Amino acid sequence: MFKLAVALASLATLAAAQVPVWGQCGGIGHSGSTVCAAGNVCTEYSAYYSQCIPGTNSAPPPPASPPPTTTVSVPTTSSVTGTAPTGLSSIPASTLFQFSNFGTNPNGVTMYVYKPKNVQPKPALIVASHYCSGTAQAYYTGSKFAQLAETYGYVVIYPSSPHSGTCWDVSSDETLMHNGGSDSLSIANAARFAISNWGVDPNRVFAVGTSSGAMMTSVLAGAYPDIFKAGIVDSGVAFGCFAVPGQPDDSWNSQCSQGQMILTGQQWAQKVYNAYPGYTGARPKMQVWHGTIDTTLYPQNFWEEIKQWTTVFGYPSNPISNVTESYLPRGYSNATYGPNFQAILAQNVGHTVPLFEQQYLQFLGIA
Ligand SMILES: *[C@@H]1O[C@H](CO)[C@@H](O)[C@H](O)[C@H]1NC(C)=O
Ligand SMILES: *[C@@H]1O[C@H](CO)[C@@H](O)[C@H](O)[C@H]1NC(C)=O
Repeated sequence: MFKLAVALASLATLAAAQVPVWGQCGGIGHSGSTVCAAGNVCTEYSAYYSQCIPGTNSAPPPPASPPPTTTVSVPTTSSVTGTAPTGLSSIPASTLFQFSNFGTNPNGVTMYVYKPKNVQPKPALIVASHYCSGTAQAYYTGSKFAQLAETYGYVVIYPSSPHSGTCWDVSSDETLMHNGGSDSLSIANAARFAISNWGVDPNRVFAVGTSSGAMMTSVLAGAYPDIFKAGIVDSGVAFGCFAVPGQPDDSWNSQCSQGQMILTGQQWAQKVYNAYPGYTGARPKMQVWHGTIDTTLYPQNFWEEIKQWTTVFGYPSNPISNVTESYLPRGYSNATYGPNFQAILAQNVGHTVPLFEQQYLQFLGIA
């Protein structure tokens, strides 16, 4: 009873707590306070992120990413369903289209594709993986990947998790192994299907994701480097960090989430090599983003990701440049370790870092 009272009291404190300047005050998945400290205004950057900005009646902050130039609006409701379309022309344009029969799908991941009105010949493909509690539809409406596809002519695949709670399986032996099974195999098979049947450019197949989807992006980058040429990890963990061997798919790994999985770069790199023994080809270029006050996937995970990918790429362990970017909110730093790896740390940002889709497209060579 006493414990409960204490817990309730601290919950009440949490709810009443005021968010300091530059802190997160709202957005999908945000469970903390939405009240900014005096002198600040809670300002929405995206569906995922609102931030406390100084001033009571201040001018709007700079946009989180350059405003999209598209004039085509993305429908936010209703999706259509079909079996695996065997050509790009058989996919209806500018709608979220569910497809099946794309290959082995052990857990029954639901798969959706978005093809813009004007699709490029030999288009790029972005696989966009949602966060826990999310769905393909939620990530589709809550991000600008589909909207920007109308401008840049690429195709988007949105997988939807089959697990209760809708996290991705980023922990099982199967999902962490090339062609081993589980969710990662389903997503890899959808990408393979798109390459073989829709004329997607195999050299421009990319993975992006937020939170659990970020962890899935690391899994795809580690276990399927032959398919994915780049990955963008928004508030995730290093490849293999969430491993819970011998346990059911989609197990939670608190040691990893709390930032207590601390390995050397060589140990982290070995996890990547073990995921696809014998693979000698190129590794996907990686961009990782993390907030310094993330209490879902602690910020130590950012530093573990840096050790992993700098070792895989043979880069120095310190950045060759670390700068602020004019388009990013104050407190963000962009550390570059080499052409294939960047790590963006966001001061006073929790779980998750808001999406900067336009910037991602530059990293992917699309924009
Ligand atoms: C980049 O610089 C910022 C500001 O000094 C610092 O907080 C951050 O830790 C640095 N990032 C990396 C990856 O070293
Ligand atoms: C980080 O800096 C590098 C080097 O200047 C640049 O190429 C890259 O676009 C920047 N990344 C972000 C996310 O701003």
